[in-house]
Amino acid sequence: MTADSNNHLWWQEGVIYQIYPRSFQDSNGDGIGDLQGILDRLDYLQWLGVTAVWLSPIYPSPMADFGYDISDYQGIHPLFGSKEDFKRLLDAVHHRGMKLILDLVPNHTSDQHPWFLESRSARDNPKRDWYLWHDPLPDGSPPNNWLSVFGGSGWQWDEPTGQYYYHAFLKEQPDLNWRNPEVRQAMFDVMRFWLDLGVDGFRVDVMWHMIKDQQLRDNPANPDYQSYMATYEQLLPVYSTDQPEVHDLVLEMRKVLDAYDDRLMIGEIYLPIHQLVAYYGIDGKGAHLPFNFQLLLLPWDSRQIAAAIDQYEGVLPAGGWPNWVLGNHDQPRITSRVGKEQARVAALLLLTLRGTPTIYYGDEIGMRDVPIPFGEVQDPQGLNMPDKNLSRDPARTPMQWDNSPNAGFTTGKPWLRLADQFRRENVQAQRDDPYSMLTLHRRIIGLRQQEQSLMVGDYVPVFADTQLIAYVRQAKGYPRFLIILNLSHRPAYFKTKDPTLKGVVELATYPEREGQTVGESIQLGGDEGVVIRLD
Ligand code: NOJ
Repeated sequence: MTADSNNHLWWQEGVIYQIYPRSFQDSNGDGIGDLQGILDRLDYLQWLGVTAVWLSPIYPSPMADFGYDISDYQGIHPLFGSKEDFKRLLDAVHHRGMKLILDLVPNHTSDQHPWFLESRSARDNPKRDWYLWHDPLPDGSPPNNWLSVFGGSGWQWDEPTGQYYYHAFLKEQPDLNWRNPEVRQAMFDVMRFWLDLGVDGFRVDVMWHMIKDQQLRDNPANPDYQSYMATYEQLLPVYSTDQPEVHDLVLEMRKVLDAYDDRLMIGEIYLPIHQLVAYYGIDGKGAHLPFNFQLLLLPWDSRQIAAAIDQYEGVLPAGGWPNWVLGNHDQPRITSRVGKEQARVAALLLLTLRGTPTIYYGDEIGMRDVPIPFGEVQDPQGLNMPDKNLSRDPARTPMQWDNSPNAGFTTGKPWLRLADQFRRENVQAQRDDPYSMLTLHRRIIGLRQQEQSLMVGDYVPVFADTQLIAYVRQAKGYPRFLIILNLSHRPAYFKTKDPTLKGVVELATYPEREGQTVGESIQLGGDEGVVIRLD
């Protein structure tokens, strides 16, 4: 698709906003966010300018992994509300011209899901083969060395039936056997159920985990393992993830979506980019957006990031639409990684790169990772590996709306404690402050959505050194933009001999800069980023 075409799809033109439902807005005082709370905050999202909302799981679940352990794929957890609440939310989102994306967790169910209860009940149960059951080795040990992402072996012994089952995550999250056609059909039915209701797409959880090596070969040792890393990283998961057959499966899932108009499939995939882009599928018939997590994972280093952007642009298959993610519920928040000032530069980067951006709730007000005392840790990843600082709770704390008790999130006791500084750092305090992080987000989203070049235009790399990254965004027949970002804390010169790179600063991390004419050079302050409208 060329940049001057106006035929872009909603998810190519849009900005996605991820809501972690437990933490967004509580409406009934139980300390846990819910669907009514989200509905009550839709005006805010519309004001911010985001165009699609992705909800982390809202289905019935014992909450061993906070909703990523599903016990009914077609219901709503009473903590979050009812089916009627969901329908009202979906309608209200659509009414505002926005889209709603649900989390789909097809790799594993809860151990309380009726499918697993049946499967585990007897070896000859018709659903036995819906999960990955295997005999022990002759000495009684697990079938192979595969590890659980959350620590320990990936195999759980089941005494009554004398076999192990595999779980890539918690033992309460048994992996489904996607080689079984009945499993496929059951999950495709789940997809159709929500698509029929009008849901606009899915973010597919751990897409690269869905099929495992049929021979169950041992994973090799990771030569780069260090003791501070999660125990899972002791091995390279070459046989337990990213198997060639997964691509047929993704294609089949895509076919389910393609029977509807204009629905979106995002894949959650943590892989090096050459492997990642294979998930676009042959002829683009795979995931529309295999999530690109490079900005989350790379050191915050201008040369590395510039190289990664160019490399990504270079390996994208024809027609493959790029995307960028700066935060999610599994990773430290950007403000905590790079600091408050640099997080503003990061926001400009996220929202001026080519491709669909995903914003994690709260990052738009610069929320930080909140220290959670040992006794209050809830995340199983944190609880299982307590000495490794791997808890994801700090990035999942309640949204900071205002300076009232509990930041306006709940009238009850919040399920996770709030940031101490919420009275200063909240939506209300930032909404009308021209220098706030929130205002910066709202303005850059607004500019992106209004300017064809920024929304869907080509990306042209211009310059990168140990401090700066500069690039142009351009769509044929529309004003072009030069973006220069200083990823360091020290001032830096940008110089160019290209006479066409002249213009006026339209938007900047330090708004004092705006309106300034830029010729062949500009000196940026530390942590400064500018978006220049070219003449
Ligand atoms: C990825 C999800 O983002 C994460 O939160 C979850 O723990 C695992 N998948 C398991 O579902």
